[in-house]
Amino acid sequence: MPQHLYRGWYQVGFEREIRDKVTPLRIGNLRLLLVKQENEFGAYNATCPHRGAHLAFGGTLDRGAIICPFHGYRIGLGSDSDCQFKTPRYRTLAVGGLLFVLLSERHENGLTRLLEELNATHYLVPGFTMTAQAPAELVVENGFDPAHFQSVHRLKRRPNLKLSPGDSGELHLSGTFYAEAFETAWHNGAVQDAGTEMQFLAQVISPNVCVSRLGENTVISGSTPNGNGSCTIRVSVAAPATEDGSPPSQQAIRALLRDSKLAYEQDLVIWENRIHDAPNRLTPEDDLILAFQKFCMRFEDEESAANEAHATCSVR
Ligand code: FES
Ligand SMILES: [Fe+2]
Repeated sequence: MPQHLYRGWYQVGFEREIRDKVTPLRIGNLRLLLVKQENEFGAYNATCPHRGAHLAFGGTLDRGAIICPFHGYRIGLGSDSDCQFKTPRYRTLAVGGLLFVLLSERHENGLTRLLEELNATHYLVPGFTMTAQAPAELVVENGFDPAHFQSVHRLKRRPNLKLSPGDSGELHLSGTFYAEAFETAWHNGAVQDAGTEMQFLAQVISPNVCVSRLGENTVISGSTPNGNGSCTIRVSVAAPATEDGSPPSQQAIRALLRDSKLAYEQDLVIWENRIHDAPNRLTPEDDLILAFQKFCMRFEDEESAANEAHATCSVR
């Protein structure tokens, strides 16, 4: 049974982790083959259409194809290959050291443009990785849960968040945070004056990728299911140049990453000890969570991405 997967973007790693020409990756139960050639990346379904071998474990590249390690057939990389057997390609995005894969072209939702613009105007710094024993979608859903900011992150005031549609199919969640109560998370390493308001905007690109701005800083979060009930959270940051045009200080970047990590650690205690299939009794105050869940449903299709990959993986 292929695991249910939303068909949007997933962060599959950081470029610094990809050292080989052929690397196995996974998004839930979908097994991927990542091909790196001269800093260009291609992601393909890793399951050999002949008899199911994993092409990234022992496969060798050969002029637009990979030689399967099991019976030695040439498997064409991409549905337009002339090979008898071929495996479908998924769009990849490598920007500023971050690496993403898109499972359906229908749900690009502007991530490419957003990150390229951010990379051109900010210093984008690949950050850290954490594993959580929790469903991947809980990570992005967290931003839609105003009440938890008070109890988990100890904000004194509940942020007044509101939703609006983005121009490219993404969802915008915006509001105001009060820095006096947010000193343990996301501030810029400097003590804020009590009562300082910070504008917050989260651009939710897919159920698993979110780009959030708080004040001048941006945090890029990806949460990718591992196929065993856990997920991998990857967090990176982007900061503008300082006033004299020089790069942001290492100290400021480190503080931003440290505070983001601290915030996730606060959430992790809740996430990892929650019963994920317990019945929910949502209140009217949980409206935003329902809106996020509705947004996620747009990324569902009759068939899962894994199914689609299998079906298009046919003999020519
Ligand atoms: S399983 Fe790949 S060639 Fe047979
Ligand atoms: Fe949180």
